[in-house]
Amino acid sequence: MYNLLHELLVDLGERSYPIIIGEDLLGDYDLSGYVAGSQVMIVTNDVVGPLYLEQAKACFPGKSVDTVVLPDGEKHKDWQTLNLIFDALLEKRHTRKTTLVALGGGVVGDMAGFAAASYQRGVPFLQIPTTLLSQVDSSVGGKTGINHPLGKNMVGAFHQPEAVLIDTGTLQSLPPREISAGLAEVIKYGLIRDVAFLEWLEQAIDQLIACDSKALAEAIFRSCACKADVVAQDERESGLRATLNLGHTFGHAIETFVGYGNWLHGEAVGTGMIMAADLSAREGSINQADYARIVRIVSRASLPASPPADMKPADFMNLMAVDKKNVDGRLTLVLLRSIGDAVVTAEASPKNLAATLKAFCRQEN
Ligand code: NAD
Ligand code: GLY
Repeated sequence: MYNLLHELLVDLGERSYPIIIGEDLLGDYDLSGYVAGSQVMIVTNDVVGPLYLEQAKACFPGKSVDTVVLPDGEKHKDWQTLNLIFDALLEKRHTRKTTLVALGGGVVGDMAGFAAASYQRGVPFLQIPTTLLSQVDSSVGGKTGINHPLGKNMVGAFHQPEAVLIDTGTLQSLPPREISAGLAEVIKYGLIRDVAFLEWLEQAIDQLIACDSKALAEAIFRSCACKADVVAQDERESGLRATLNLGHTFGHAIETFVGYGNWLHGEAVGTGMIMAADLSAREGSINQADYARIVRIVSRASLPASPPADMKPADFMNLMAVDKKNVDGRLTLVLLRSIGDAVVTAEASPKNLAATLKAFCRQEN
């Protein structure tokens, strides 16, 4: 029998949905009430499928369940792989009454969500995230999409799921490096809007790294509460939601530079948050003690603190120029006004930005 720990609501009017958090939910929790029609297509990959696909199927009693297994990895978050989902849907004659289910990490979630947003002009979908990163961030909020060789997540759609089912037990099979990557997004919530959560993280970080299930469940609940609150206030990212991108502008540049999948998304975000903190300090909004505190928590989560050795300031500037937040050619960044308070700004001094890039890049030209 499963153990239900928390249930949160993403409050979006008629598109509201629950985030169901618990232990042993996979295989036991009945999700068929979230499926309007009779057909279900579970989208997973060749790492997660062998671990959890049979249990996920059991969550849909009375439904006709088909499955499609994608190749694993960020490098497959592209058109070709997306097309495998459409192939399966059409081969199995799924109609516009079908429901897609994303079973996996953020890569599967973003792709299955995008397939749901576009198949027959849009069908419902459910998220069953199985990585820490996807449980605390990507499965909530309806951002879906794929990468383009010239930029991360450049093609996609907003499409909210019908429900998010988080079985915290799935984290026990996750490699330690992936736990650290997820912690980057957890730390992000503390930095941008919840100092009390950051203080809790500072005392719980060693348990989290050790995959302690109680600590992880608490981190997931508090992260999802932060994300649900932000998304409810600003679903389409006209302002507040962009603060969730702390560290992502620098981070996406790193991910694109090294080639998708060579650095994990959360690793790039960890380094990106330190770079954003450095720039915030140069802008005079946080002090050196705040900066050192941020470096400490990111490093304690076993995340990298500096970009790849061969990445130059010009590489950052070129890659950051395509960031989705930019307006009229002006680089827009998320900076910290203080710990627990973030701002989205196009006003950072170019001189300070150049100084940050010079400080972090080991090669100048
Ligand atoms: P991922 O999906 O690549 O998963 C990481 C690895 O863990 C993969 O190899 C995966 O197969 C494996 N895995 C998944 N669950 C497992 C489990 N329980 N046990 C063992 N292995 C497991 O990476 P991720 O970190 O989950 O997601 C990163 C992606 O999410 C990026 O593409 C990023 O752009 C996206 N993202 C999206 C949003 C959003 O709002 N939509 C937010 C943040 C990140
Ligand atoms: N991960 C950023 C967002 O969902 O807006």
